[in-house]
Amino acid sequence: MNSPKTANIQAIQIAISSQADVIACRKTARETATAMGFGLADQTRLATAVSELARNALRHAGGGIFLVHAVQSDGRNGIQVLVEDKGPGILDIEQAMQDGYSTDRSLGLGLPAARRLVHNMQINSKPGKTTICIDIYLPQ
Ligand SMILES: Nc1ncnc2c1ncn2[C@@H]1O[C@H](COP(=O)(O)OP(=O)(O)O)[C@@H](O)[C@H]1O
Ligand SMILES: [Mg+2]
Repeated sequence: MNSPKTANIQAIQIAISSQADVIACRKTARETATAMGFGLADQTRLATAVSELARNALRHAGGGIFLVHAVQSDGRNGIQVLVEDKGPGILDIEQAMQDGYSTDRSLGLGLPAARRLVHNMQINSKPGKTTICIDIYLPQ
């Protein structure tokens, strides 16, 4: 059974096709975190991780989809975000997770930073489909 708080959290989906959509994903992630009772620091962690993933979908894949919903794991309440795209895929995930690695001559800090900001991050990627899933949980 979901607690009343998680039961009130509705799943939200946003198509990412512009910088404005990236900002909308960030804002929605923060609002969901606020509604679930996350503190300011965790709201900002989630919002920052989401904006990196959404930005990557836009920049490296030409766009994608953002989905946010409440999750429970081991009796803990949290938020799960999925960012999916149909782009070229992340060819070498281990390399992409290293600080400073970029195929784009940009900073290359987005993925490793996102990983550090949340409790769990999973990447599934092949040419034509990349799915990145992040979770953050309320303190027990
Ligand atoms: N959604 C994606 N599709 C394809 N490649 C990606 C995606 N996200 C990240 N990557 C690859 O992983 C690298 C590292 O990502 P990131 O750490 O965010 O750095 P940056 O975006 O600054 O290049 C990118 O340069 C790109 O090669
Ligand atoms: Mg990036």
